[in-house]
Amino acid sequence: MKHPQTLIAGILALAVTAAGASAAVAAPADPRAVDRSPALASRSLAALAEPIGLEIGVAVAADQLGADRKYTKLVAGQFSTVTPENAMKWESVEPQQGVFDWAAGDALVASAEANGQLVRGHTLVWHSQLPDWLSPDGVSSDFSPEELREILREHVITQVTHYKGDIWHWDVVNEALNEDGTPRVSVWSEAYRALGLDPLGYIADAFRWAHEADPEAKLYYNDYNLEFTGPKSNAAHALAQDLLADGVPIDGMGFQGHLSTQYGFPDLEANLDRFADLGLEVALTEVDVRTAVAPRKNHEGEWTSTPATAEGFAAQREYWVGTLEACLAVPACVSYTVWGLADSNSWIPGVFPGEGAALLWDDHLNAKPQLADLREVLATSDAAPRVR
Ligand code: G3I
Repeated sequence: MKHPQTLIAGILALAVTAAGASAAVAAPADPRAVDRSPALASRSLAALAEPIGLEIGVAVAADQLGADRKYTKLVAGQFSTVTPENAMKWESVEPQQGVFDWAAGDALVASAEANGQLVRGHTLVWHSQLPDWLSPDGVSSDFSPEELREILREHVITQVTHYKGDIWHWDVVNEALNEDGTPRVSVWSEAYRALGLDPLGYIADAFRWAHEADPEAKLYYNDYNLEFTGPKSNAAHALAQDLLADGVPIDGMGFQGHLSTQYGFPDLEANLDRFADLGLEVALTEVDVRTAVAPRKNHEGEWTSTPATAEGFAAQREYWVGTLEACLAVPACVSYTVWGLADSNSWIPGVFPGEGAALLWDDHLNAKPQLADLREVLATSDAAPRVR
C-alpha cells in the first residue's frame, strides 16, 4: 500500500457519504451533476485501486492521444493500463499484405511507457476489422485455407514480435463464439473446417504462436456476454477447459462488459468465479453501460448524451458499481478497463442509435457521477489483493 494515510483520510472523509451511497444511486439524479466527493475527486482510479493490486484501464483513441490536451491528461492521470481501441487491429497494422503500419500502436506504447502504464494489446485474431485484401466481410477470402492458416501464423508472430516486451496482456482471440455457444462462422473457422480441422482449432494455434513470439505476455481470450450464465458463457468455459487440458498457453479470460440498462444486471461474479476456478486470470476488458438517451431538440433522429430518464441514469450507476464490485470480489480479477474515456468517444451511438451516455466522462470531458461512485467503491473496498 503506497499511501496509507491518504487512503485512510479519504475513507474517513467518506464515512458520512458512503452510508447514503445506495440512496443516492436509487434516487433520481441530475446526470450533469458534478463529482460530489471532493475528498476523493483528486485521487485517480488507478491510485485508489493500487493497494488492491487491481489495474484500471481505458481504451484509447489514437487520434485523440496527444491531440486533445484534456483527453491526454486524463488518460495519463487516471489509469494504470491502456488498450488501443483500434490501432492494433489487423486493418490498422497491415492495410496491405506485407505492408505494416505500426505508427499508431507504437505511439500508444511510447505514451504508456512515459506514463508508467501497462498495455493490453487488442486484438490479434478477430473476424472484424480485417483489411480488404484479406477478407472484405470477415468470412470470404480469395486465399486458400492453407494460405489463410499461414497468413494467420505470420500475422500473429510478426505483431507479437514487434511488440515483444511492451505488452502486458494480449487479447489473442476476440469473439469466436455465437450467442448459442456454437463457433462463429468466420474466415478463420471456415479455413480450419476446410482443412478438416476443428473450426475453433485456430484458437489453440494462435495462442501457441503468440506465446512463442513473446513468452512473457499474458494471453487472453476476449468476448462479450460472457457476463451472463448461458450457452455462450458455458461454451467459453468449455473452450477454456479444453485449451488448458491440451496444454495451450492461455492465461486469462476477458469479459468485455458492454452492458445496457434495458437488460438485467448479469450474474457476473459467479461467471468470473467459475473461470477463475479453472486457474485462469479474469479481467473486465471493455466496460461501458449504455442507456436510452434523450433526443436532440428539433433534430429528428439525433440524440444527446443525456439519459432519457432518471431511472435509466440510476440503473447505469448501479451497473457501474456492480461491475467493479464483482471484479473486486474475485481475487483473480486483475484488471478493469473502460471502453473509451468520454461519451463523445464512445462507439455506442454509432451502433445503437438512441442509446448512449455509456462512459465515465461526458461529451465535454467532465467527470460524471458514475466516476465518483467507482472511486467510492475502491476507497471503501476490503477486497483481497489480486492473485496473478
Ligand atoms: O478509420 C476509419 C476512417 O478512416 C473513416 O473515415 C471512418 C468513417 O466511418 O471510419 C474509421 O473507421 C472506424 C474505426 O472504428 C476507427 O475509428 C470504423 O468505421 C468503425 O466501425 C470502428 O469502430 C470500432 C469497432 O470496434 C469496429 O468493430 C470502434 O471504434 C471500437 O470501439 C469497437 O471496439 C470493439 C472491440 O474492438 C471488440 N469488442 C466490441 C467493441 C465494440 O464494438
